[in-house]
Amino acid sequence: MSLVSLASVLATWILAGVCTPGRRSVTTINVNSTASHSIPTTLYGQIFEDIHSGDGGLYAECVNCAVEPWVSINGANIAVIEETHPVSSALPNSLQFIVPSYATGPIGFSNEGGLGLLEYLTFIEDVGMEPFMAVWSGYSLNKESVPEDELEPYIQQAIDQIEFVVGDANSSEPGDYRLPVSKFITHLLEAALRASLGHPEPFTLNYVEIGNEVVVLHATYTWPAPHTIFGSYEYRWPAFYGSLSAKFPDINFIATTHPFNPVIHPTPKQYDVHVYNPPEWFANHTFYYDSFERNGTRYMEGEYAAFVSYPNDPGNGPPYPTMQSSTGEAAFMTGLERNSDIVFAACYAPLLQNVNISGNVRGHTASLISFDYYVQKLFSVNKGDEYLPSTLPEKYNGTLYWTISRSSSKGDVYIKLVNFAGNASDVTFDLSSFSSVSSTGSLQLLTGSETTSNSPETPNAAIPVTSSITTGSTFNYTAPGYSVSVITLGTNLLSEYGERLFSSD
Ligand SMILES: *[C@@H]1O[C@H](CO)[C@@H](O)[C@H](O)[C@H]1NC(C)=O
Ligand SMILES: *[C@@H]1O[C@H](CO)[C@@H](O)[C@H](O)[C@H]1NC(C)=O
Ligand SMILES: *[C@@H]1O[C@H](CO)[C@@H](O)[C@H](O)[C@H]1NC(C)=O
Ligand SMILES: *[C@@H]1O[C@H](CO)[C@@H](O)[C@H](O)[C@H]1NC(C)=O
Ligand SMILES: *[C@@H]1O[C@H](CO)[C@@H](O)[C@H](O)[C@H]1NC(C)=O
Ligand SMILES: *[C@@H]1O[C@H](CO)[C@@H](O)[C@H](O)[C@H]1NC(C)=O
Ligand SMILES: *[C@@H]1O[C@H](CO)[C@@H](O)[C@H](O)[C@H]1NC(C)=O
Ligand SMILES: *[C@@H]1O[C@H](CO)[C@@H](O)[C@H](O)[C@H]1NC(C)=O
Repeated sequence: MSLVSLASVLATWILAGVCTPGRRSVTTINVNSTASHSIPTTLYGQIFEDIHSGDGGLYAECVNCAVEPWVSINGANIAVIEETHPVSSALPNSLQFIVPSYATGPIGFSNEGGLGLLEYLTFIEDVGMEPFMAVWSGYSLNKESVPEDELEPYIQQAIDQIEFVVGDANSSEPGDYRLPVSKFITHLLEAALRASLGHPEPFTLNYVEIGNEVVVLHATYTWPAPHTIFGSYEYRWPAFYGSLSAKFPDINFIATTHPFNPVIHPTPKQYDVHVYNPPEWFANHTFYYDSFERNGTRYMEGEYAAFVSYPNDPGNGPPYPTMQSSTGEAAFMTGLERNSDIVFAACYAPLLQNVNISGNVRGHTASLISFDYYVQKLFSVNKGDEYLPSTLPEKYNGTLYWTISRSSSKGDVYIKLVNFAGNASDVTFDLSSFSSVSSTGSLQLLTGSETTSNSPETPNAAIPVTSSITTGSTFNYTAPGYSVSVITLGTNLLSEYGERLFSSD
């Protein structure tokens, strides 16, 4: 599908042609008032992973984390013990908490706070989000895959986990969740347990990922230590997908591999793609999904973040995102929105960061106070429900990237414009295909120098600033160097008497 109109190509060429020496060229962006596709409500999300400095459900590998994220207080203790009734011979150990009776708090760990699956689900429900849940699929970061003929208990665990979330509480007897772990797992009646914990109604759960970034290609990796993985997803995917989709036919299951690589059966309908790369990579891959075949397969960018590297010390960049890394991500996100007919979700990761960087946060330069946070907020809050085609940005080595959407109920149009270069760029927006366009709009502008970073010491080095700007069916705008601009304007709104609320210029 070509979204470039001949008129806009000509306009750009003519404008470029009439430029006098020394004057900056102008990019003309022609906006089509006919939407091409709807934008999923799940497009912009957040991932939370219970490793590193995360809270909540405990992963055994956390015991080996350099950061030591679980710090016990009030004499509480955490240990790996041999399980007397292991769920499988492949997993003989479990984590044990010993909490003295005098300890305060529900379990006694300073960063625990009773945050587990139920708390995530109720939190998500409270804030009006939609959960995507991953189930463990038989691969550990210690390089081991559960053999094919030993997967059954883990598939059952995944079923139990989903049953806890969506099961009918009235179809089973209440479980006794105070039983020892081994008995708890084998005798648990999950939906009844959920009801006994105060949530009789099932939670919404439309998406379940089978594993998460459990890299499955026969390849060599460097983290957590150099190791080679021999593919196992080829048998784990069919085993989990077969049983889970039979039991939960309404759930969309997501595969955690590169799209179509390796080839797995049955062919996944959803893939979760992850990417961590330098800012230039993101700016240069805004067209990544444009070439994907439209054949019903959908994609989720389940984890992505730009990391900033020092030339002589790759991977050890500044501890906080820079305007360059954030505008790189923003440029990439314009491509996600343009392709949201097949990209159904994206999660920036990690939004939360342990600001004490003496540990193992290499490469992950996110933080709640970062530009990335503001970029994520600007993109997710200022999003219509339908995508409006416009002149395409330059494919490679471009500096300006944009995406335009509209709220079909309000008529508001959201223009997101990213400048991934240090120099300002002039833009002319042409909205003459709309029957009316408001003469003023609002501008939210996030900008700074290439290396500007927000940090705990300077949390407001650059934050979005809102102002009013002149708009109309054609209007000019200058995007400052390293900036994300969101222009919101009204279009086509009729009053209850059928009059246009906005005069067309
Ligand atoms: C706008 O989109 C519609 C529907 O795809 C198409 O028919 C029309 O030619 C487009 N107009 C312009 C000016 O590109
Ligand atoms: C379970 O059954 C009770 C009594 O019949 C009913 O009030 C309740 O709504 C049911 N709960 C669910 C989740 O269906
Ligand atoms: C951008 O991608 C194109 C096409 O893959 C490549 O030729 C070019 O070198 C890339 N530029 C940068 C700066 O990575
Ligand atoms: C969709 O297209 C991809 C890429 O061309 C292909 O590998 C895959 O098999 C197709 N899926 C279906 C369901 O046809
Ligand atoms: C940061 O981590 C180091 C090493 O774990 C620790 O010694 C130090 O107290 C921590 N600093 C803060 C401010 O938490
Ligand atoms: C993009 O930039 C790269 C690196 O500077 C260069 O090798 C490549 O030829 C450029 N591509 C285009 C299409 O200008
Ligand atoms: C930025 O603008 C300056 C002055 O107008 C010019 O000398 C320089 O070449 C420009 N840099 C880029 C990367 O376009
Ligand atoms: C936009 O800028 C161009 C010069 O680049 C000028 O000719 C035109 O009048 C401007 N349009 C508006 C609406 O200000």
